[in-house]
Amino acid sequence: MTETAKLKLNDNTYELPIMTSVEGEKAIDIRKLREETKYVTFDPGFANTGSCISSITYLDGEKGVLRYRGIPIEQIAKKSTFVETAYLLINGQLPTKEQLFRYSLAFTKHANIHESMLKFFEGYPITGHPMAILSAMVCSLSGYYPELIMPEPSALEIENISIELLSKIRTICAYTYKKSAGEQFIFPREDLRYIPNFLNMMFTTPTKEYEILDEVVEALDTLLILHADHEQNCSTSSVRLVGSSWANLFASVSAGICALWGPLHGGANQNVVEMLEKIHEDGGNIQKYIDKAKNADSNYRLMGFGHRVYKKYDPRAKIIKKRADDLLNKLGIHDPLLDIAVKLEEAVLKDEYFVKRRLYPNVDFYSGLIYKTIGIPTNMFPVLFAIGRLPGWIAHWKEMQEDKTSRIGRPRQIYYGKQERDYTPIEERKLI
Ligand code: ACO
Repeated sequence: MTETAKLKLNDNTYELPIMTSVEGEKAIDIRKLREETKYVTFDPGFANTGSCISSITYLDGEKGVLRYRGIPIEQIAKKSTFVETAYLLINGQLPTKEQLFRYSLAFTKHANIHESMLKFFEGYPITGHPMAILSAMVCSLSGYYPELIMPEPSALEIENISIELLSKIRTICAYTYKKSAGEQFIFPREDLRYIPNFLNMMFTTPTKEYEILDEVVEALDTLLILHADHEQNCSTSSVRLVGSSWANLFASVSAGICALWGPLHGGANQNVVEMLEKIHEDGGNIQKYIDKAKNADSNYRLMGFGHRVYKKYDPRAKIIKKRADDLLNKLGIHDPLLDIAVKLEEAVLKDEYFVKRRLYPNVDFYSGLIYKTIGIPTNMFPVLFAIGRLPGWIAHWKEMQEDKTSRIGRPRQIYYGKQERDYTPIEERKLI
């Protein structure tokens, strides 16, 4: 028998179907609720709302589980590469050797961006935030590559536009950095793989070639893999919402980049390092910042702690913490900010306020320290996150395109404004 939930409204009882996910989670299907009852639900922040059916990523915040296409994140982070992970997320399975070779080759082929787009960078002030430039450039790809934007794209057309975007984003990101550093663009090279190519475009200058270290490539690979998808987070939901109007992939991803920028989401990695620097400058007084975050009258939060879904240690943070430690050790660097981060984490995990609210370090807590070690400037941290999250955004946009039952995103509201009243002529208006 199909399971249902009963909803009693005044004298009427309605039966609502229950959906069960493959992992056993239950959902009440309210798709017909308004039509049948004239009621809507109220769920600010969508904390209790399933917005779609998805087969890409599974996460269990209570148990600290994260899987891409069924494979545990710990295995992917240890054994895979970012390019292979992108293939897995977007196509649903791990590639064969031949498929992976062709996929990587396509990234090399499409790394350059339209020549006239280069002039576009010139228009930005040197102080422009890289995320502003990145979102504009990604949206602008729609203007420079109209042949890639099809109203009802076929599987092959979706594959083509995805490859173009995955490849070009690292070039755009590197040029964004070069623009802010006032340095000459370094063009992509055909002999370098995805991450080394990006690092080379970022750090080589006309007078000095950047030395690509394996440790750095591996650390960056891990970080990008860990960021690659996280089901219906704020930026992915933005990509889906924009894409639900059948907006093209470039426009939809550009919206995701804007959503990611916010300090409560992907912008947190920048804020974490800035917070740790402030604590360091302040003599390492961790307790002062913990107390500030606990003060109900202040809006201050400890950046890098807490998560809407994880109520246990974020499994990504665990892996990143170890990576940060390993990288610093291998490069023989001692960063006092890592010491502060470790002490802050220890103190937070013992503090009743954080324990009660189940606030643990999230993915952004240690990632900034790796970016900093690699030499990436603080305001570029969210940009790196955007490269990492891109396969997820693409996979979700593609999944939505393929789902012929998906509808335009259009929530309802509970109106608390003025009731009907007459227009007052300007002469009769008074200051309220
Ligand atoms: N520091 C101090 N208090 C916090 C923190 C924090 N980092 N995070 C949550 N809280 C408190 C809130 O003040 C609230 O307390 P209250 O119950 O006394 O009012 C309670 O914990 C619940 O917080 P909410 O804001 O309701 O939780 P929500 O699920 O809406 O927000 C979020 C999650 C945005 C991640 C939040 O924990 C936060 O702001 N963290 C800091 C920013 C950050 O690190 N963001 C990156 C998240 S990971 C990612 O997006 C990639």
